Amino acid sequence: MTSQKHDIIVLGSGLAGLRAAIEAARNPDLDIAIVSKVQLMRSHSVCAEGGTAAVMQPDEGDSFELHSWDTVRGADFLCDQDVVKRFVEASPKEILLLEHWGIPWSRRPDGRIAQRPFGGHSYDRTVFAADKTGFAEMQALYDTLQKYSNVSRYDECYVSSILTKDNKFCGVTAWDLTSGEFFLIQGKALIIATGGACRMFGFTTYSLTATGDGLAMAYRAGLPIKDLEFVQFHPTGLVPSGILITEAARGEGGYLLNNEDERFMEKYAPSKMEVAPRDIVSRSEMTEIEEGRGFPGPDGLDYVHIDLRHLGAAKINERLPMIREVAMKFNFIDPIYKPIPIRPAAHYFMGGVHTDINGATPIEGIWAAGEAACVSLHGANRLGSNSTTECLVWGKITGEEAAKYASKHKALPSPQKATTLKEEEARVFSRFSSDGKESAYVLRRELQRTMDSKVGVFRTGPDLKSALNKIQEIKNSLPAIKVKDRGRIYNTDLLSALEADNLVDLAEIIVTGALARTESRGAHSRRDFPNRDDVNWLKHTLAHYTPKGPRLDYIPVTITMWQPVERKY
Ligand code: FUM
Repeated sequence: MTSQKHDIIVLGSGLAGLRAAIEAARNPDLDIAIVSKVQLMRSHSVCAEGGTAAVMQPDEGDSFELHSWDTVRGADFLCDQDVVKRFVEASPKEILLLEHWGIPWSRRPDGRIAQRPFGGHSYDRTVFAADKTGFAEMQALYDTLQKYSNVSRYDECYVSSILTKDNKFCGVTAWDLTSGEFFLIQGKALIIATGGACRMFGFTTYSLTATGDGLAMAYRAGLPIKDLEFVQFHPTGLVPSGILITEAARGEGGYLLNNEDERFMEKYAPSKMEVAPRDIVSRSEMTEIEEGRGFPGPDGLDYVHIDLRHLGAAKINERLPMIREVAMKFNFIDPIYKPIPIRPAAHYFMGGVHTDINGATPIEGIWAAGEAACVSLHGANRLGSNSTTECLVWGKITGEEAAKYASKHKALPSPQKATTLKEEEARVFSRFSSDGKESAYVLRRELQRTMDSKVGVFRTGPDLKSALNKIQEIKNSLPAIKVKDRGRIYNTDLLSALEADNLVDLAEIIVTGALARTESRGAHSRRDFPNRDDVNWLKHTLAHYTPKGPRLDYIPVTITMWQPVERKY
């Protein structure tokens, strides 16, 4: 298997990737491939818990305008407002489509699709399937995918590079982890849907596999990465594992309590309390902890509590069964009787591959969707439950756009030089001949410690500078990683080294962008620049690859509906 050919290659098999593949596969003349580092149903999207936002009850008071306003204000005005409009209008159709594809949405007593409150939304608009929404969505998409015979799957294949020629997509190189083969997949169109890279942090809600490979490859292939300095910390990561305790736990009425048993959100966001936007709740928790009103936790992971006891057993079992199970299995705590220890955990990248409103990137034939993309929907802070919706909406859009493109362009782009595959194979396996002394695991741990301690909920110039120095030191050590396992099949040692390359490149972009951005906006909170600065910083960051490190430039934010105002809850 040295070369495969398909019309469209979908990189990543989470919600955005599957939704894109289904949309493209509706055209029976097209041949689609889904390439994923993991087995399809092990994609990180299955971990999404609390729900998917959409306006489903306009007759009861919700509206597109309200959902737009909540999203724009939540984003601290850094989102593109034309993108937000398109998003809110497309969202309800995706909910109904999944309904037709068999998803078991939770229901209201009157039979309508149930919706729950979520942070920063001023209407109860989060559609859900108990607290396993991502799993239910993935299952519905997976089942639907079975109807299409024009989709091939390459599960457990690590794509190592994106190939372009004359600013046009040509194909990808891939290492089949199950057979050890290294091969070329040629295609006319590529959809990057590989998620974010919060695994560069130690305390995170992410799966171990979510290392931003597609994002880093896109960067090295010459695609600009937009707004990556905006990293979301979810307020309720279970201590010490980081497993997500869904925001729905607060949406359903859970309290956040400090060591004096106070509902401290009263001080920080009196009108929204526990369902304020995530950046605000995470800062409030860290302030409580830093001012001595937290509880001592292991390895410096001091925490506050989320208390569900007053909700009662029936509600917890119906609405939050997995949260109960997780708390019992991982912490030996039954939330019916005891509060759960939590603190902010790295959860989501607002930034990603720079795209236009259709998910198209600056390279012809390449689109990006979901968390890997930055279509500029979330700005500086995403609202909870807007991301799974984004995956569905831009999965559909990019699948449709890529399909139009692939139908119009009859010929596969001319093959690469014969040497390309060989060169890339030699690069990927070059660590077999390294006699270096470094360990990928140790370097990744150092990166995580650096990101946790210096690029967290609160940032400062000196901390960011010291983080950048450390990241560059780690980057210089990467070529000296020694891979002990020399086999090509399921070589997780080598995989870990390749993932380290990706994580370090992305960490460098985050910190470079964060250091340059001398203001506080949304999730980027600088103690040395505590105010938002619309005069100088109402703009998107673009990071371009250079061998010496990222080069930054900036593009304007699209404002069509609301001028920025003070953000208060
Ligand atoms: O808390 C949650 O269930 C996560 C949702 C999200 O990130 O949108």
